[in-house]
Amino acid sequence: MTAASNTAHIVLLSGDGIGPEVIESAAAVLQCAARLGQLELRLEEGWIGGAAIDRCGDSIAPDTLESCLKADAVLLGAVGGPRWEHLPGHLRPETGLLRLRSAMKVYANLRPVRSRSALAAFTPYRPEILAGVDIMMIRELTGGLYFGERHRSETEAFDTCRYSKIEVERIARVAGRAARARKGRLCSIDKANVLDTSRLWRQVMSETIAREFPELILEHILVDAAAMYLAQRPASFDVIVTENLFGDILSDQSSTLAGSLGLLPSASLGDGTRGLYEPIHGSAPSIAGRGIANPIGAILSVALLFRYSLGHDHLARMIEDGVEEILDGSVLTPDLDPDSRLTTSDVTRMLCAVMSRHQVV
Ligand SMILES: NC(=O)c1ccc[n+]([C@@H]2O[C@H](COP(=O)([O-])OP(=O)(O)OC[C@H]3O[C@@H](n4cnc5c(N)ncnc54)[C@H](O)[C@@H]3O)[C@@H](O)[C@H]2O)c1
Repeated sequence: MTAASNTAHIVLLSGDGIGPEVIESAAAVLQCAARLGQLELRLEEGWIGGAAIDRCGDSIAPDTLESCLKADAVLLGAVGGPRWEHLPGHLRPETGLLRLRSAMKVYANLRPVRSRSALAAFTPYRPEILAGVDIMMIRELTGGLYFGERHRSETEAFDTCRYSKIEVERIARVAGRAARARKGRLCSIDKANVLDTSRLWRQVMSETIAREFPELILEHILVDAAAMYLAQRPASFDVIVTENLFGDILSDQSSTLAGSLGLLPSASLGDGTRGLYEPIHGSAPSIAGRGIANPIGAILSVALLFRYSLGHDHLARMIEDGVEEILDGSVLTPDLDPDSRLTTSDVTRMLCAVMSRHQVV
C-alpha cells in the first residue's frame, strides 16, 4: 500500500486497434474518480506500438519512454495489428511493450479474475462451476522466453527460456504477500517434469515461501494439469503464480471464467509503486473503430492504478463497485451479449453516472 498523494502524473498510451477507444473510456473514468476524490491529475499522452512506428519509426517514442519512467503510473490500451505484422522483430509493435515493461522494471503482472453470477450465462461454464471464482493470477513479466536470446534463419529458429534465482525469489515475494492478504493459499504453476527453468522455479519458490511466508499453504501444479483444473474446478484456486509464457496463456484461458477477454484488467509492478496498467486483451483489429469494444478491462485497470500506484483504495473500490452495478444491470457490450446495441461510450457514460451518485468518504 502506498502513501496516498493528492496529485498524480499519469501517462496515457492508447496504442493500436481498440486501444484508443478503451483508453478514451478509461481516461474518462480516471478523471471522474479523481474529481470525486479531489485528486489533481497531470495527464500526458504518449506513443507506443504501431502508432509509434507510424509516427517516429520506432516501437515506442523515445520521449514517451522517458515520460513513463518519470510518471506515477502508465495506462496502456493495446498494441499490434495486421498492418505491422510484416515488419522485422525489433520493429514490431509488441517490441515497444516489451521494452516498456523492461525499462519500467515491472516484473510482476497481477491479473485478478472473478466470476459474476449476472454474467454466468455468457460463459461456457455451468453456474455451479463458476460459483465463488476469485483468483489473483500473478505472471512473471520480464523474464523467460519473451526476453531470452532468439534467432531465426530460413530453416531454423530458437527462443531461449532463462530464469535466475533472483527473478524467482522476487516474484515469489509478490505472490507471498498477495496470498497472505487473501486466503493464505498459493499455487505455483510450472513444467518441472520437463524443463530445467521450471525445476529451478519450483525449488526457489518452495524455499522462499517456506523461509519468508511459513504460514502459507503452497502447492505446485504442472501447467498442463493446471489448464484442466482451471476449467474443472476454478473456485479451488486463490493466488496463482507462474512464469511469463504460462501466465500469458492461462490468464487468457481464465478470462472465459469472467465472460469476456474485454473484462480483465492487469497491474504490472516492480519494487516501487510506479506501475503499468493495461487490460489483458489485445488490439482486437476486427472490431477496431466500431465503437463497440468492451472498456471494462481498461476501466478496472484504472481501479488497480488507484490502489497500487496512488494509494487511493477507496477510489479503486468506487470504480469496482460501479462496474459491478452496471454489469448486474445488464449494461453489456456485444462481446458479452451479441444482441446488445450498447457502445463503449454508453458504458462509460453509465458508469460515470453511477460513480457520481456514490458518496466518496
Ligand atoms: N498487450 C497487448 O497489447 C496485446 C495482447 C495480446 C495481443 N496483442 C495483439 O493484438 C492483436 C490481436 O490479437 P488477438 O486477436 O490474438 O487478441 P485480442 O485480445 O486482440 O482479441 C481476441 C478476441 O477477443 C476480442 N476482444 C478482445 N478485447 C476485446 C474487448 N475489449 N471488447 C470486445 N472484444 C474484445 C477480439 O475481438 C477477438 O475476438 C495482435 O496484433 C496481437 O499481437 C496485443
